[in-house]
Amino acid sequence: MRNIVLIGFMGTGKSTVGKRLAQSLAWDFVDTDCVIGEVTSLSVTEIFRRHGETRFRSEERIVVARLSQQGQIVIATGGGTVVDSRNLEALSQNGIIINLHASMEAILSRIGHKNDRPLLKGTREAIEKLWTERQVCYAQADFTVDTSQKNIDEVVSEILARLGRMTDNNEFTRVSES
Ligand code: S3P
Repeated sequence: MRNIVLIGFMGTGKSTVGKRLAQSLAWDFVDTDCVIGEVTSLSVTEIFRRHGETRFRSEERIVVARLSQQGQIVIATGGGTVVDSRNLEALSQNGIIINLHASMEAILSRIGHKNDRPLLKGTREAIEKLWTERQVCYAQADFTVDTSQKNIDEVVSEILARLGRMTDNNEFTRVSES
């Protein structure tokens, strides 16, 4: 059974949607940032602060390679995970890749005030530049769902409908409405 992999910029809803989607399918949910935190016993912010982004990306690559070997899990990646094409390749081998897209306005209103993302510390222009540069990576997904104006249930329903259309078996059947 393939994995479902959520990619997209920070604040597009990957973790929240991923959790609900996994619940709907009765699959396990894994968040790569959380696994990196468990493995290193450090928060993402601490890894960046103490060891730098290079170390974070190397931990991320190891976690991605491991998760890509599993099946029937919903994986929420970090916003920069698929910037490394090796990660996208590994995740694609055994997974359907879904890009969660959101406008810059939606992203900033959701997470602009939070303090837990080292790469959101810059100016709005810097964040916007990163967002723009990364769109080409996110566009490699099997399909995209725009979450800007949707609540979690709407996004999950849209994902399930699109997955159902992509496959001719019951691989992605919703098991609960909660
Ligand atoms: C990052 C996004 C974060 C986290 C790290 C780097 C990025 O994850 O992996 O701070 O490069 O965009 P979220 O997308 O879950 O915020």
